Amino acid sequence: MTAYRDSVNEAATFVRNALGTTPVPPVALVLGTGLGALHEDIEVEVRLPYADIPGFPTSTTSMHEGELLMGRLGATPVLAMNGRMHLYEGYTAHEVAFPVRVLGVLGVQMLLLSNAAGGLNPQYATSDVVLITDHINEQSTNPLIGANVEAWGPRFPDMSAPYDPELCGLARDVALEQGLELHRGVYLAVPGPMLETRAEYRKMRDAGADLVGMSTVPEVIAAHHMGVRCLAVSVVTDMCLPDALEPATLDAIVQAADEARPQVGTLFRQLVQQVGA
Ligand code: HPA
Repeated sequence: MTAYRDSVNEAATFVRNALGTTPVPPVALVLGTGLGALHEDIEVEVRLPYADIPGFPTSTTSMHEGELLMGRLGATPVLAMNGRMHLYEGYTAHEVAFPVRVLGVLGVQMLLLSNAAGGLNPQYATSDVVLITDHINEQSTNPLIGANVEAWGPRFPDMSAPYDPELCGLARDVALEQGLELHRGVYLAVPGPMLETRAEYRKMRDAGADLVGMSTVPEVIAAHHMGVRCLAVSVVTDMCLPDALEPATLDAIVQAADEARPQVGTLFRQLVQQVGA
């Protein structure tokens, strides 16, 4: 764990130096599957490919570009992870959480995450945007296993509200003001990479989940452990209704995510304007 902690600190120092005199912004974004195109809304000032940052795991999925961006979303300075790591790529939970920990060490205070998810709640439709209000971790692992780094957070962190209630409230206000439909839901995380069987979707729905996906939860656990306030939204890319299940293709998933990009872009732009000044 000492080696891991040293790597996180080394990566943070590298990023800090790469930013030069630019202060670290209070808000960082994690742009998920199909929503990587959101980086086009960011006026980029510094671009750091993950491969150039010491110790950073590199993203292997072709649709994830794998770079840390410093720039402006609207008028507000942000750091943005364009591409994330997933367990299904073979990374450990610690590797998946590595970049978020670097952001935490750098002093980022808020993390806005996006992802593509399957919709278990029959009231959703493809390309709907859902505010994650809580999660169920079914990944059989998490980034806090092992020796605790006391400098980052407590051994047994509270998880009564990992999705910051104030940020969630602001997101709902923004959605109302902007005329965006914003559902609320519980996200269940699986390791992937396969999608689920009908029987599995039925079980997840029975367990209280509205969404299922393969990301976000390790990052939120690591960020929340460090006291970084989190907000996460899912774009519903395929409906997971056990009795009316259609085969899902990667193309359809990416297209559905792309269709929701303007809404997520508006939501994030307005949110960072309010909290990231
Ligand atoms: N299951 C798991 N992850 C997903 C899904 C799904 O149906 N759709 C998008 N990500």
